[in-house]
This record gives sequence, structure tokens and C-alpha cells, in this order.
Amino acid sequence: MNADPLASIYRPLEYLAFGRALERCRIKLLEAAPGRKRVLIIGEGDGRFLSWLLACTTHAKVDVVDSSQRMLDLAKSKIQPRDMARVRLLRQDVLRELPEATYDTIVTNFFLDCLTEQEVNQFVPAVSRLLEPGGVWLVGDFHLPERGLRRFHAQVWLTVMYRFFAMTTGLRARRIPDYVALMKGVGLTVERERYWRAGMITAQVWRRPTAPSVASFRS
Ligand SMILES: C[S@@+](CC[C@H](N)C(=O)[O-])C[C@H]1O[C@@H](n2cnc3c(N)ncnc32)[C@H](O)[C@@H]1O
Repeated sequence: MNADPLASIYRPLEYLAFGRALERCRIKLLEAAPGRKRVLIIGEGDGRFLSWLLACTTHAKVDVVDSSQRMLDLAKSKIQPRDMARVRLLRQDVLRELPEATYDTIVTNFFLDCLTEQEVNQFVPAVSRLLEPGGVWLVGDFHLPERGLRRFHAQVWLTVMYRFFAMTTGLRARRIPDYVALMKGVGLTVERERYWRAGMITAQVWRRPTAPSVASFRS
């Protein structure tokens, strides 16, 4: 996927299609932000989430990884000068290369839906290894409800969106991959989740359990 052609119109397009629903989802996830120390944001996009995160975590060091230089430029333009020193902006394809560090927080907002099943099978286990025990993985994303009118409504929107992104960015994914099963498979548990827009937008807080203590091994 090459998001460069869409970078400058990404926000107006989003507002046109969904109003403030995606923003409400991202803002909800910020409730988990206070106290975080080392954050990795994958596929940040235009920097809106980054700027809010920096405002509510005054000491966190934040790595931002995105494959689009234009998205990274937009993100950089939203960083206050006082916060510059605690942010690293990395232009990388996370399917080929991940930062060599561990984090207490990982964020993927409307990113997992950009991956094919095959890509997500590789991505989730690889990224989960960067998450420290007790850490959280914040997921904002589209969601396909199980049945009924809500499913039909989401299916129509998702079909239109996947076609649009395929044409404009070369996106290869055609449907939301089953990241939930994979995240459970690597030992993460959903702590909180919330839905908007008839169930087609979700915010989820996943947690990696803390390592069992020595005491619990003895008992
Ligand atoms: C749909 S946009 C989501 C942007 C933003 N996080 C949001 O909440 O709207 C996906 C973002 O992920 C980036 N991206 C897509 N594939 C990537 C990859 N393999 N490695 C790194 N970044 C990638 C794109 O450049 C884009 O900025």
C-alpha cells in the first residue's frame, strides 16, 4: 500500500465518509494512555492520534512507524517543538522490518484492516513479541458484525472502501483479516471494547498478561 497520494486529503475524506466516528474511536483509546512510557504507533497516518497522545503522556517516548513519507511529514508537522525529542519518526514497511525495541504500548489504528490474512498471520506474532508483559495493544479498526442489517450495512461500506483504497493506493487486502483469533492465539486478552456506527467501528484494549511471579510458581 502506498498512502502518499491520499495523505493530504485523508482527513477530509474521513470526515466526509464517517463524520467524527473514527475520531471518537481514537479518542476513546486515549483513555488507556496516561502513565504509558514507551509507545509504538504503527501506521499512524497524518499525526492526529500522535499529537493527542503526546498531549496526554508528557513523559512517554514514542516511536511512529509508517511506510508513507507524506503521512510522516504530516505527523511531524503536528508535533510541538517541546515534544520533538521524545518522538522517533521511522519510515519502514513493518511487514519487512520492525523497530528493535520493546514497548508497554502498541497502537494500530485502522491499520490491521490494511493487511491480507497472510500478512496479518505474520504481523501479529511478530509485533506481539515487542509488547512487554502487562503492556497494552490499542486497536481502532473497522469491524464486520456477525449478522443482520448491521452486517449488510458494514459490508456495503467495506466493499466501497476496499475498492477505493485498491485503486488509489494499491492496497491488496480485500476484507478485514481475522486478527482477533491471532491476538488471542499469542496470549493477549481483550480488556475493553466499544463499538460505533452500527457495530462497524471498534476500539479495543488488548493486554499481555504479566509474567507469572516466582511465588505463583511455588504455590
Ligand atoms: C488507513 S491508514 C490509517 C491511518 C491512521 N492510523 C488512522 O487512524 O486513520 C493506514 C496507514 O498505515 C500505513 N501503512 C500501510 N501499510 C504499511 C506497512 N506495511 N508498513 C508501515 N506502514 C504502513 C499507511 O501509510 C497509512 O498511513
